[in-house]
Amino acid sequence: MYKIPDDIKDYVRTTLPSIDGMLNPPSSWSTVILILDQIERGIVSNDHSIFLEIGVFKGKYLSLLERASSKLSIPVVGIDPFILEGQSLDSVKSSMFELGLDMERVHLIKGLSDEIEKIDYFLNGRKLDFIHIDGSHRLNDVLEDIAWADGAVSNEGIVAIDDFPKMRQLEVLEATVRYFLRVDCEIVPFCISGGKLYCSRREQALFYKNALLRFSEKNRDIGSCDQLITNRETAERWTYIQRFFGEELIAF
Ligand SMILES: C[S@@+](CC[C@H](N)C(=O)[O-])C[C@H]1O[C@@H](n2cnc3c(N)ncnc32)[C@H](O)[C@@H]1O
Repeated sequence: MYKIPDDIKDYVRTTLPSIDGMLNPPSSWSTVILILDQIERGIVSNDHSIFLEIGVFKGKYLSLLERASSKLSIPVVGIDPFILEGQSLDSVKSSMFELGLDMERVHLIKGLSDEIEKIDYFLNGRKLDFIHIDGSHRLNDVLEDIAWADGAVSNEGIVAIDDFPKMRQLEVLEATVRYFLRVDCEIVPFCISGGKLYCSRREQALFYKNALLRFSEKNRDIGSCDQLITNRETAERWTYIQRFFGEELIAF
């Protein structure tokens, strides 16, 4: 229990860095831990779960969602217009295939997040247990993506907001803060990690925070895990707990 399998460690350490895109180790490891926790606690299951990414680029993070859940057969869906230079749906698909990912499970959809009905076919009664928001970085788009994700995520699921905070993506910061001020906001943040903010329903937040601590204790060969536990044992509290909107977040 709480051990990260060697094949996932190898993927994060050796394959993931070779894929074009930006993803730092704390973000990768925190995502892996949270998905393994969802699997261990039976939140995610073959019968009724689905993962979604808004904004795929070349599939770096999507590949991590697939690898971290590789024991399961759940769909992993990414939506993106695929119109940037050097980016096409087919090229992303074939490079993911070449990396050995299970393309029976990975579904790429050409579209914008305001055409989210395009994922309905894959939803098919499944619950969205993990949503990663990394599409448009404009204020209103991010606000709409977060609002949609809040309404769509399952009661036990996770909404991860990328580029929070980042000096050159201040509209993401503003949209996120504005969303937490809304009275209809039903997610709370529980972890900040390498530029990703993880949120869930309040009832789940403590479980996920405990998972980050338990996994970190058992995987101290991973720098980010060791840092969290070392800070907890030897450093001041602010180094591993940050208060934000009244919540105590794990700073991973
Ligand atoms: C920062 S990149 C995503 C990086 C990706 N998550 C990764 O792991 O490398 C942003 C992506 O969002 C896409 N995008 C921009 N606006 C979008 C929208 N409204 N809906 C969905 N995707 C969008 C862009 O085409 C681009 O591929």
